[in-house]
Amino acid sequence: MPKPGYFCSVRKRCFRTNRLLRSVVLLLLFGGVLAAQSLHSVGNIFKPLATPAELVSELSILTIAICATIFAIVAGLMAYAVIRFGYREGDSRSEPPQVYGSNQVEIAWTVIPILIVFVLTMSTARVTSAIQDRQIPKDALNVTVIGHQWWWEFRYPDLKIVTANELHVPVSSMAQPRVTSLTLRSADVAHGFWVPQLAGKTDVIPNRTNKMWIDPRELGTYLGNCSEFCGMEHARMELRVIVESDEDFAKWVARQQQPAATPELTENRQAFLASPCIACHTVSGTRALGKMGPDLTHLMGRQTLAAMEVPNTAENLRDWIKDPQKLKPGNKMPAVKISDAQLDRMVAYLASLQ
Ligand code: CUA
Repeated sequence: MPKPGYFCSVRKRCFRTNRLLRSVVLLLLFGGVLAAQSLHSVGNIFKPLATPAELVSELSILTIAICATIFAIVAGLMAYAVIRFGYREGDSRSEPPQVYGSNQVEIAWTVIPILIVFVLTMSTARVTSAIQDRQIPKDALNVTVIGHQWWWEFRYPDLKIVTANELHVPVSSMAQPRVTSLTLRSADVAHGFWVPQLAGKTDVIPNRTNKMWIDPRELGTYLGNCSEFCGMEHARMELRVIVESDEDFAKWVARQQQPAATPELTENRQAFLASPCIACHTVSGTRALGKMGPDLTHLMGRQTLAAMEVPNTAENLRDWIKDPQKLKPGNKMPAVKISDAQLDRMVAYLASLQ
């Protein structure tokens, strides 16, 4: 019989139950956290849904297959040697016979790795050029992506749209291929644009323009992340690509091209325009013309806030404005000193910006 407060396994190992219970609870909690995170985690590169991602995924499978074969051979031979030639009771303790210089073996372990590296280099070069040299069709949608610490700006120069953190693009199909051409720039430091299910990572570098393209084949929301360490909030520099049917995309474009809602000078609008927020944010058709932060003209048309997985609700918006450093410590938006009543009016105005 185990002592009270102890739990004993069949092999007669006993643990204090409270310690055991604590471990189980911790394990469950940890598992829960992992499960919750997988909802928002970076998408799977092995489930590509656009041509560039597909090419990258095929190359990754080839690379993994080659590396796994090498691992299996080396580990297998090692395990065999350890088991077959390990020390046994009664073996002599003297030094085993030493073998020096075998031309065959040396040629084999020089030539084979060279061949492997050659195959990997050539297949990588083939995929890289297949993606980079692709002719961008004339009817491609052009988007300029600008990386900021720590959010994404998306500009559609031909459509005169500016938005943030959520990139809307039309879906592509065999019958009707729709390519989106992305021009990548940075406003400050190096970032990396990465939506794993759509394409490989591309660096976003200050004073340099990089290009990439995507042709998403399925409707839906694709999660992405900044893939280059860019400072304190690098991990909270998320992005979404929202892939829509031609009709829905056209509707989105039409809505984005509208000037801001509530053109009349209401008390709520007045509260916003009197705040220091307008130094950093733009609301088209008003005197808010700041360029440092995201364009707010159609703020409520976005699903999330602060380039994070925070639902864009009036309540979250209020918390975000009240204390931006609480939600996303280190971000460039300062808390503005305003009364609660003023904050309510400002939030009411912003929440009306559909
Ligand atoms: Cu931007 Cu990391």
